Amino acid sequence: MREPILSVRDLSVLLGGRRGFLRKTVLPTKAVSGVSLDLHEGEILALVGESGSGKTTLGRTILGLQRENAGDILLDGKSVAGLPPDVARRARNAIQYVHQDAGAALDPWWNIGRTLAEGLLIQGMKDAAARMERVRAMLAAVGLDPESARRYPHEFSGGQLRRVSLARILLLQPRILILDEPTSGLDMSVQATVLNLLLDLRKRFALTYLFISHDLSVVERLSDRVAIMHLGKIVETGFARDVFARPLHSYTRELLNAAPRLTGRRTSDGLSAVQTASVGAARRA
Ligand SMILES: Nc1ncnc2c1ncn2[C@@H]1O[C@H](COP(=O)(O)OP(=O)(O)OP(=O)(O)O)[C@@H](O)[C@H]1O
Ligand SMILES: [Mg+2]
Repeated sequence: MREPILSVRDLSVLLGGRRGFLRKTVLPTKAVSGVSLDLHEGEILALVGESGSGKTTLGRTILGLQRENAGDILLDGKSVAGLPPDVARRARNAIQYVHQDAGAALDPWWNIGRTLAEGLLIQGMKDAAARMERVRAMLAAVGLDPESARRYPHEFSGGQLRRVSLARILLLQPRILILDEPTSGLDMSVQATVLNLLLDLRKRFALTYLFISHDLSVVERLSDRVAIMHLGKIVETGFARDVFARPLHSYTRELLNAAPRLTGRRTSDGLSAVQTASVGAARRA
């Protein structure tokens, strides 16, 4: 097999410790504890686990937003761990984060054309007309009207905002996206269109996804492999179909038993709205 695009080796991250003066010392939480995983080019690896299991912390550490306490992170086989945060972030430009709050990274006072073009300017693209051309093409690529470059963040729906934020990130030419609950807070039918868009963009821009989610019905359909996280550790990893059919770890079985799911897998044309509507029905039942 080819070398993984990203490797995490025995990574540990401690959070929130304080040495007290008058108050007592607060011991840090081991939010990530000896985690290893490989991400192969072009795949979708789902990171699944209950709230507080350390998924976001792991994602932020891979991005370089959080310093690791032990372990290594390799991008194309080269270590990017142990660098100061600003250097680490630059070394990891190929990795971008898709926040669950799509509006968070958009300036409310700028039309989105200006916000998106700004990213290109920072990358050194000097020609304003060329920048706007790229922005319009990217808006079209994520299924938005290029004319919407003139609109402001509050003039978009939740689903459209996810598209805008994906366009902003894709202009940075990432190779790996860390998607942290990318469809949370969206209606079922909108979720399906966003997930289909993600499948489409992955192919079109040759992307690799680390997909953080606790929605097992989505994970089962979307991911190639899954890693199950529990109390800061990865307790099980494997091909999605194997893990869902024959969970080995007791925690994975618990997770699967707790979540009603439908059988059936991703098709070549992605998720249909009908399928997802029935997932919605199953979850409400
Ligand atoms: N800034 C912080 N200071 C101290 N502890 C923190 C901090 N951020 C997170 N934690 C703790 O680290 C652990 C992992 O948190 P994390 O946010 O990574 O979990 P998660 O799996 O992303 O959860 P969720 O599904 O709710 O988003 C939790 O026990 C959490 O309370
Ligand atoms: Mg989280």
